[in-house]
Amino acid sequence: LTGVTQIAVVVHVLWHEPHENIADEQIASQITVLNQDFRRSNPDAEQIPAPFRPLAADAHIEFVLASVDPQGRPTSGIERRQSEVSSFGSDDGVKSRASGGLDAWPANDYLNIWVCPLGDGLLGYAQFPGGPPETDGVVILQSAFGTVGTAAPPFHLGRTTTHEVGHWLNLNHIWGDDGTGCSGTDNVADTPNQGGPNAGQPVFPQVSCNNGPHGDMFMNYMDYVDDTAMFMFSTGQVARMQACLDGPRDSMGR
Ligand code: ARG
Ligand code: ZN
Ligand code: CA
Repeated sequence: LTGVTQIAVVVHVLWHEPHENIADEQIASQITVLNQDFRRSNPDAEQIPAPFRPLAADAHIEFVLASVDPQGRPTSGIERRQSEVSSFGSDDGVKSRASGGLDAWPANDYLNIWVCPLGDGLLGYAQFPGGPPETDGVVILQSAFGTVGTAAPPFHLGRTTTHEVGHWLNLNHIWGDDGTGCSGTDNVADTPNQGGPNAGQPVFPQVSCNNGPHGDMFMNYMDYVDDTAMFMFSTGQVARMQACLDGPRDSMGR
């Protein structure tokens, strides 16, 4: 693994109520979290249980707000729109101007992040590699974005975006998306086979699917625990993200 891939980010802010028009500082706080989590420089990595610590890996990916827009003009990497839509859903409506959102910037060059009010208890959702460019990127609830401003516990440490960008780079949920069964897989060899999702702030160890004594890697960004309880990608997950950057997303970064 050589070098670091730098990914240009555009943040599309859709707001209905004024408080949803999050400040530049809240956006900057999210970029900081991404750069910590994908470089394994997150301060809470020290909380990784000892048996899993050797597996916690640096993804060698960095994120920077775009400085040039698709027309070649200087940009802050942030665009904003007051929308008549008071709450978006998982139907990609936020991703086009015609439905009250903002259009994607070219998916070969930018990671598109939409930040907006979301309904149905959704914290966020992502499009995996290989989908239509018009809807490529991640969507994040404004109160689960960044670490300041409207960011609200227990999703106030920017980990929803870390999790969704994991999906965008082809990572599956760590429990294998088979409900609570033991037959699903995340297609990563070094994450223990795990029953279902964990939630809240689990105490180590959480054993399922005969994965004792160390149990589930519930402190992984691709589980469903609180933001304060997730702090690692594994070596195998990093290999999968790098394969994505060498494959379907090889146009990203330098
Ligand atoms: N896609 C997940 C959801 O919307 C996001 C989970 C993020 N978890 C977190 N601790 N921030 O339910
Ligand atoms: Zn997910
Ligand atoms: Ca499972």
